Amino acid sequence: MSAYLNGEFLPLAEARISVLDRGFVFGDGVYELVPVYSKKPFRLDEHLRRLQGSLDNIRLANPHGVAEWRELILRLIDLQDFADQSLYIQVTRGTPDEGQSPRDHAFPKGVPPTVFMFAQPLVTATPEQKAVGVCAVTAADNRWLRCNIKAISLLANILLRQQAVDADCAETVMLRDGFLTEGAASNIFVVKDGVLMAPPPSNLMLTGITYDVVLELASAHGIPHEVRVISEAELRAADELWMTSSTKEVMAIVKLDAAPVGAGVPGPLAQRMDGLYQAFKQQVMRT
Ligand code: PDD
Repeated sequence: MSAYLNGEFLPLAEARISVLDRGFVFGDGVYELVPVYSKKPFRLDEHLRRLQGSLDNIRLANPHGVAEWRELILRLIDLQDFADQSLYIQVTRGTPDEGQSPRDHAFPKGVPPTVFMFAQPLVTATPEQKAVGVCAVTAADNRWLRCNIKAISLLANILLRQQAVDADCAETVMLRDGFLTEGAASNIFVVKDGVLMAPPPSNLMLTGITYDVVLELASAHGIPHEVRVISEAELRAADELWMTSSTKEVMAIVKLDAAPVGAGVPGPLAQRMDGLYQAFKQQVMRT
């Protein structure tokens, strides 16, 4: 597996950074995860736009322009010997120079950011897994109030996600003040009486690239949809629940806190949207 680190392409196992990197010491950085199908990055411009937003929010200058990022990413994709990839991009606030305090919360001065990328094989759900769906648990969203930043400091998400793993489930669905926010590593959609609903983008959630594609597909195909706050009662009374992300795509949640969601099997709209999503991917990959 090839990686990219600060201007160099090298085998992943040989990539080294200082233990004083602010990503390591403080979790002071941001990331992106770009799905790559048949060596073509999916929605790369949108991922790079979100990366820019995350960098702006943490007041870290983007080390590369869009064309430069594109070139580096395409080169890294090309170096892998597998076609479908999950490409990870991380930018941290770098390593303080000698002479600067090695561990000061304040931004270091004149230090270049650390840029790290690697790709691993993308494993998406099989049609058989999609036909079964997954279970989820709920938890109070106890993260900070800047969840729109795709920050590498994921401790809260990790602890929340582990609650799902401990219950043999795939995801933790989070509620803040009685309203749905998102999953620990995904966005959540609700279907009721044929209407698709999603919480509105805000500082309380990360707006997924998949989330945007799903809403675009709903518009393009005349599927009734509403972007609005969703209460816990609405979540629990849903006919269908979906989790969406770059790696999970559109996955039906069929059990929530051990109670069946709707009929307890993936619903018709989930199946339709997954079909539309797969077709959209194919179409994008051909262009
Ligand atoms: N996570 N919300 C959170 C908290 C996430 O971590 C993710 C994705 C999403 C969905 O975003 P997208 O559709 O752009 O993948 C929403 C990625 C996959 C990860 O951390 O690995």
